Amino acid sequence: MNDVLPEEVGRWQKLERIFRSLVELYGFREVRTPIVEDTGLFVRSIGEATDVVDKEMYSFERHRDSLTLRPEGTAGAVRAYVEHGVSKREPVTRWYYLGSMFRAERPQRGRYRQFHQAGCEVFGEAGPISDVETISMVYSLMTNLGIEGVEIAVNSIGGPGTRARYRDALLAHFTPKLASLSEHAQQRLQINPLRVLDSKDPRDIEASQGAPSILEHLEDADREHWEAVVAGLQALGTPYCIEPTLVRGLDYYTRTLFEVRASSGQLGSQNALAGGGRYDGLVASLGGPETPAFGFALGIERVLLAMPEEPQRVAPLCYVAPMGVEAQRLALVAARELRGAGLGVEVDGRGGSLKSMLRRADSLGSRFVLVIGESEVARSVVALKDLVAHDQQEVALAELVARVQALASRPVETTGGPA
Ligand code: HAM
Repeated sequence: MNDVLPEEVGRWQKLERIFRSLVELYGFREVRTPIVEDTGLFVRSIGEATDVVDKEMYSFERHRDSLTLRPEGTAGAVRAYVEHGVSKREPVTRWYYLGSMFRAERPQRGRYRQFHQAGCEVFGEAGPISDVETISMVYSLMTNLGIEGVEIAVNSIGGPGTRARYRDALLAHFTPKLASLSEHAQQRLQINPLRVLDSKDPRDIEASQGAPSILEHLEDADREHWEAVVAGLQALGTPYCIEPTLVRGLDYYTRTLFEVRASSGQLGSQNALAGGGRYDGLVASLGGPETPAFGFALGIERVLLAMPEEPQRVAPLCYVAPMGVEAQRLALVAARELRGAGLGVEVDGRGGSLKSMLRRADSLGSRFVLVIGESEVARSVVALKDLVAHDQQEVALAELVARVQALASRPVETTGGPA
């Protein structure tokens, strides 16, 4: 679990800003749900045979309730959608969220126990349009964030009918190799053989070689949907690669799945930036009406690792350097006037030497320093230093705001000083 210090927060805010403005163009509206939910909600939606539920949840008992810090955002969004009867008010709902998620995983670069997701969920659309638009939207988002080397893997795992057929084919493939599978995969084979394809254990990866492709087992309606998704991605020029072994680690998915990966930036092995898919059965299984749905979430920390580095400096435009008690009083008034006009100001409250105050203004990167000493107080003026133009002038307090605004808007020949 990490602290995010102010030096880094600028990049978080940039990502959040670009995410919000893009998804709002698609009609998504923000929803905020609790960080803690009933443990049963996650067990029923994500699935018992998944790593998340099996090993990674932070669960605790309180007043005989079992509660869990949310490991992802979809389950809570669906619970809220059902609980508030949203489907009765509107046929299609587009929600987005940003927030902390918790998984007790082994931490490494790009994998944390508290991490943050930004995600979107569309409720009420069964057709391939929401699949195509959402996947393409995530691609645009990565491009807008300056991330290079983005790859989108797509697959379809069909509906329950397809999976029943595929389950038989997978069991026929794995059963003769049972002894060579990891113990974990051996247990999972009967509960959900698809999970074996998702295993990172080298023994399971080896045994998965040559496993039948689910795409060859799709029922007609699933195949039609899948072909329309692929055709839509092609029509929009969204790059994708078909990965028939992509199953993803959560049980609620049906039909289309996708995962966005990147090789750029400082990402290591945790290169999945975002993932999602269709989950047409989840709303009904949590007590709501039959409602098709599609969604995704991106991992904010991982996307930040993949985003290009750029200097972030938010310096107050003006730094006020008062010398003496009376000068401090004048400084407060000057700062209030400037801020009232929307100009950023920091007042030096340390009471040190002029030299140390100038050094601080310079290291912050402020453009102007207002020096106020006894003689300035006596005449109600300030000495206004422009650190970029290397210029100084005396300005009456009454004219200060207009003068700073005029200077700030005037281009100057810089000699490389802070802007
Ligand atoms: P997920 O693939 O489990 O899907 O997580 C989505 C993204 O969250 C991952 O691609 C990754 O970037 C990030 N992430 C996951 N675990 C960690 C971690 N321990 N540390 C850092 N980042 C992490 C879901 O959560 C689904 N709810 C997505 C979805 C929404 N499907 C439909 N709607």
